[in-house]
Amino acid sequence: MDLQPLISVRTNPAVKPPWYADLVIYEVYVRAFRDSNGDGIGDLPGLADRIGYIRDLGITAIWLLPIFPSPLRDDGYDISDFRDVHPDLGTLDDFRKLLDRAHAAGIRVITDLVVNHTSDQHPWFRSARNGPGHPFHDYYVWSPTPDRFAGTRIIFSDTERSNWTWEPQCRLHYWHRFYAHQPDLNYDNPEVRREMLEIVRFWLDLGVDGFRVDAAPYLFEREGTTCENLPETHAFLKEIRKVADTYSPPRVLLAEANQPPAHLAPYFGSGDEFHLAFHFPLMPAMFLAIHREDSKPLLEVLQATPSLPDGCQWAMFLRNHDELTLESIAEADRAYMFDTYAGAKEMRLNLGIRRRLWPLMQGGRRQIELLYGLILSLPGCALLYYGDEIGMGDDLRLGDRNGVRTPMQWSTGLNAGFSEAAPERLYAPVISDPEYHYAGRNVDSHERTPTSFLNWLRRMIKVHRADPLFRGSKMRVLYTDNPKVFAFVREREGQAVLCLNNLSRYIQPARVDLHEWRGRVPVDLIGGAALPSVGNDPVLFTIAPHYFYWFRLEQR
Ligand code: GLC
Repeated sequence: MDLQPLISVRTNPAVKPPWYADLVIYEVYVRAFRDSNGDGIGDLPGLADRIGYIRDLGITAIWLLPIFPSPLRDDGYDISDFRDVHPDLGTLDDFRKLLDRAHAAGIRVITDLVVNHTSDQHPWFRSARNGPGHPFHDYYVWSPTPDRFAGTRIIFSDTERSNWTWEPQCRLHYWHRFYAHQPDLNYDNPEVRREMLEIVRFWLDLGVDGFRVDAAPYLFEREGTTCENLPETHAFLKEIRKVADTYSPPRVLLAEANQPPAHLAPYFGSGDEFHLAFHFPLMPAMFLAIHREDSKPLLEVLQATPSLPDGCQWAMFLRNHDELTLESIAEADRAYMFDTYAGAKEMRLNLGIRRRLWPLMQGGRRQIELLYGLILSLPGCALLYYGDEIGMGDDLRLGDRNGVRTPMQWSTGLNAGFSEAAPERLYAPVISDPEYHYAGRNVDSHERTPTSFLNWLRRMIKVHRADPLFRGSKMRVLYTDNPKVFAFVREREGQAVLCLNNLSRYIQPARVDLHEWRGRVPVDLIGGAALPSVGNDPVLFTIAPHYFYWFRLEQR
């Protein structure tokens, strides 16, 4: 087996890695984070107030879920005005203040850009549904019969029976890839393309540092295709990039393209489309690898991972605000994931698992540390979902994906310190089941406990950020004689950090071939201990259950 898969990233040592190449991103659901005015709903001033907490965690960018006016039938991904802030969350002025606070703390702000669809309450659609000839009718995709584009899958398969919905007002069907109340925009209409580019400029002019582009693969439709990843879609995404590039320094574009590796590569273009894309295929592979105690799922995905053009990077993540999606993996792996991580039916949603990280891993701290060790040592940006740093649980009684979007837990006080409102007024209940009760899982308590997960994660992020080799360097998988141990190096210009990951719940020995680094001394990046220098023979490491090591291979 060829064990030299590369995640190739920009390696030209003459060029400094771009500002976005190694972000530690914190995903914030503003509604859930901190309520500043006591109405039971988190808001922008509340978030601004907690920027210090985010900075102290070592975060370098926040990504905000949609903050725009919306009827909130898909938590704000159903937008009714692209140029304002939802009144629950504050005002445009509050948003400007948040930008200032974040920037002053050295934190970039990335917002969601929902390009594919609007809410059916958007003025464009309210006019469009009156029929042909009415303003904005051609902003959407219509058909007299619901049989066009028949090769297109249904994404929200638990709720939607078709990608077409009948509009009685104009006696036509309209096209939608998500909920029926989210009509898709018609990108064949040059007016739609122009409007969207203006919306992009609006937010960039306000000072946002970039966008997480929602549902990027679905913009155009063509008969006889899956209506995903079409060349026309890539061409428009490149138009967004051109606009982002007119700003200085250029603003960043992060793709939500839930696709297998081969389809992901084109989202980077030749360095002229997205700067970053979530590594959707690697995410479930990490969960598979840890449960099977086998590095094979990781090796397979890494081998299939395309090399990236200069200036592009992956965003590695474990969980986010959606279900843990299993759309882009093999059917057998999906069945394994469901059996392993979603035993009860209510844990499943569409082709995914609607659980937070901690309950998913049954609270196994060692496993969770190992997973974070992976995303902090693999190339690219690492993403953290709010609350995972304090071991937050989920609430399966709440429908859709709401169970993983409950209020942030700050303290043992009223409503976990999230809001001063009466508990029944909160937009969602705080987690209070015995195992994950906020009394034990909150920022205050974790801060005060030196051994808490929060403090552990802060230290790891610090170590990660302090080592230049975790920034933009090449990754190479190394041969070991034990498939339960996943070994790789991050290397640049003769310097190397060795990363060893024991995927098993038992202690494991592994011989790692390090002859290229003969004479070097492995020095633990975390504690500083030095091991005996590397000789000619493979080096024997003994690794504790679910443990990981990061060693700098130092020339002494
Ligand atoms: C993206 C979002 C998801 C939303 C969907 C439709 O996948 O992550 O939360 O429901 O787009 O906008």
